[in-house]
Amino acid sequence: MAFCKLLLTVLVLLHNSGLLGNEVRSSIIGAEDAKKESWPWMVHLNMTSHDSKMVKWGCGGTIVAKQWVLTSAQCVANYDYRRSFVVVGAYQLQKAAHRYMGIANIVQYRDLGNSNYENDIALIKLKKPITFSKDVAPVALPDKDDTFGPSSECWITGWGEVGNVPLPFPKTLQQLRISIMSWSTCNKTYPQIAHNTLCGASRKGRDACKGNYGGPLVCRKREKLVQVGIMSHGSPGSCGLANHPSVYTEVAKYLTFINDYVHLSEKPSAFLYCKVTAC
Ligand SMILES: *[C@@H]1O[C@H](CO)[C@@H](O)[C@H](O)[C@H]1NC(C)=O
Ligand SMILES: *[C@@H]1O[C@H](CO)[C@@H](O)[C@H](O)[C@H]1NC(C)=O
Repeated sequence: MAFCKLLLTVLVLLHNSGLLGNEVRSSIIGAEDAKKESWPWMVHLNMTSHDSKMVKWGCGGTIVAKQWVLTSAQCVANYDYRRSFVVVGAYQLQKAAHRYMGIANIVQYRDLGNSNYENDIALIKLKKPITFSKDVAPVALPDKDDTFGPSSECWITGWGEVGNVPLPFPKTLQQLRISIMSWSTCNKTYPQIAHNTLCGASRKGRDACKGNYGGPLVCRKREKLVQVGIMSHGSPGSCGLANHPSVYTEVAKYLTFINDYVHLSEKPSAFLYCKVTAC
């Protein structure tokens, strides 16, 4: 009996100190290991800058078509296509059972706007088409008029960090259920926020973080999940704080942009907004 009580006390202490909690080993703060094959559209971007510093960074992205990946514009700014690649079909990033794809091109949406992350969206054209399978498949996009709000069931996924704590070996994909904040609360929290964005509901200790940007916010629409947002940024310099929700680019506002490139990419006029490398 005394032993039980002692054990219980120890467990409570461990729990309170976070030693048994997910926080210790999750990337997206407060997340859990993803179920295998639940997020077949999820890709990892392994990027290196094209200047002499060769800065490296990781991002998320999603497969939207055989040769196209959707991500945030910041994730592909100033990258070197010879040293950067897309990892498809990964579950545990540090295990070998996945494919590495070269980048042919990046297409950005007109301009990034000014400093408030306006139009933080970009498409990556891969050098070769992806072969789809059970664990590699495109994400569904919402319809133009779909609305998602605080009552929607939504999820974010990623391999990124919590502040300076990287996801430990073997870097298992993390998933976190979150909800969307109402626009009025979002706008009140960040009065300078860009149009065509969404805030995640801010629950302390449950948030997207560095290395997850570019990755998806998917929400349930009847029987399936559709990509409602692209992780764009958090509040300056931190993540997982109460009342500092992460901000997402609202995918439904960019369907024309996405469809133009993905489905009409053979038409030269569709490359009007093409940036970075020659199209
Ligand atoms: C990118 O890939 C290299 C080589 O496989 C690896 O050492 C590095 O950790 C990766 N970086 C990121 C951010 O995924
Ligand atoms: C946020 O709200 C303010 C005040 O209602 C409004 O002027 C502004 O345009 C809104 N911002 C966006 C991006 O909707």
